[in-house]
Amino acid sequence: MSIVKTGTPRESAPRAVCVDPLSGILQPGFDRSHIALDKFGTRSFVLFDPELIRHCFVANSANYHQAEARKRLAEPLLGESILTADGEQSRKVRQTIGRLFNRQALDRYSARMIETTLQNLDDLAPGVHAASDLAARLALANLSASLFSNALDARSPDILAALDGVYDAMWGLPLVGEEGGVTYYPRLRRKERNEAAAAFRAVLGDIISDRLGRPADAGRSDLLDQLIALRKAQPGGNPTLERMIDDVATFVVAGHETTASVVAWTLYLLSQDARALQRARDEAEVVIHGGIAPEHWPEHLTFTLACVEETQRLYPPAPIFTRQAQKDDIAGGIAIPAGSIVLLPVRLIHRMQRFWTQPDRFMPERFLPQNRGRIGQFSFLPFGLGPRMCIGSAFGNREAIILVAAILSRFDLSYAGATPPVPELKFVMRSDNGIPMRLSAR
Ligand code: HEM
Repeated sequence: MSIVKTGTPRESAPRAVCVDPLSGILQPGFDRSHIALDKFGTRSFVLFDPELIRHCFVANSANYHQAEARKRLAEPLLGESILTADGEQSRKVRQTIGRLFNRQALDRYSARMIETTLQNLDDLAPGVHAASDLAARLALANLSASLFSNALDARSPDILAALDGVYDAMWGLPLVGEEGGVTYYPRLRRKERNEAAAAFRAVLGDIISDRLGRPADAGRSDLLDQLIALRKAQPGGNPTLERMIDDVATFVVAGHETTASVVAWTLYLLSQDARALQRARDEAEVVIHGGIAPEHWPEHLTFTLACVEETQRLYPPAPIFTRQAQKDDIAGGIAIPAGSIVLLPVRLIHRMQRFWTQPDRFMPERFLPQNRGRIGQFSFLPFGLGPRMCIGSAFGNREAIILVAAILSRFDLSYAGATPPVPELKFVMRSDNGIPMRLSAR
């Protein structure tokens, strides 16, 4: 089992931020339930204790809405999706959309995902590729094939280029300066971010207008149709194109960049661990060459799924979530005044010695079915928790194992970077160098 080098904060990061009061939490003895900070101009509570987390994110989640600062960060890109709005409305919308993400639906998508991925890999020449770009391209193609009846395909280069522009306009500052435990929060070049976000939204506007201009297809009820129908069913009933773009943008961003991040980091971690790589490759051989029906791939890719989940532990695509208290609250005896921010530092929790043995080690075996029972309910949270938990979690995992297995079946891989990739939070967890991987034909 190798110890994966996880990189250190950039030297240019201000020291004041590096020497953060949170840095002690990765020490073995750390056992505090929370840390209170007045650092961001408002009172913030960083939560570690499972009971506090359960209280704020599940039991009393109605009191904790999306933080205003987070909403402002996302607004130029995502607007105000009906799905992510706080309150009862979003619960109903999630119920309707949830049908597109249940087990039967996922089994149907599997065949399309496999076909789409293998076709895309047919066109991929061996050589050095940025794993992040490759994974983003494949994940968007799968999203389009599974949930949008391929409606995104013709414009996917525009979508990817515009989103790259958005992420490039953000750069990460380390919130916690600790080897292996760096959590970044984004800073912005606002003008560039807004221009790129507008370009992204314009492309989605074209795609939605095209769908609205076509006669309804009786055999089709994909996510795009459903999002349009849900928006039309809102009070007022005559939504603007902008509001429809909000809903579609939320899914396109949430639904491909996250999975792409996991796939890229999984390839990197596997490239550092020959034994795990071989075991994942053996599974890939079985599904690709063993005539396994697409819906049965997950049963044969248990180690690959364990690698994906271990990667989500070490490099969660959403490393920190924030909420804002609407009213005064008492959580586990702590007074949380209205307006306070509560932070769930997922990336740190995933590395705490209190919850994990050898937390910086890539050990996929932790996630094999026979070991899973040892993982605490609140110590592994890559998809969040409570009513806002990721609606696409099963979709994302299914897609990630298909992408990893397909890539391993076609290529030998080795890391081609001079230094280990450094994680950077740019809306989702990305890396400083795109994770260059040498792919050699097998
Ligand atoms: C490995 C892949 C993924 C990860 C790690 C991930 C993670 C997350 C997390 C942590 C949240 C909740 C954020 C919060 O509580 O503030 C979230 C929300 C969401 N995710 Fe995912 N996600 C993934 C894949 C997907 C996919 C494939 C889709 C759709 C196709 C998707 C759609 C969404 C949507 C729409 C929300 C907003 C839900 C709401 O606010 O009610 N995600 N995701």
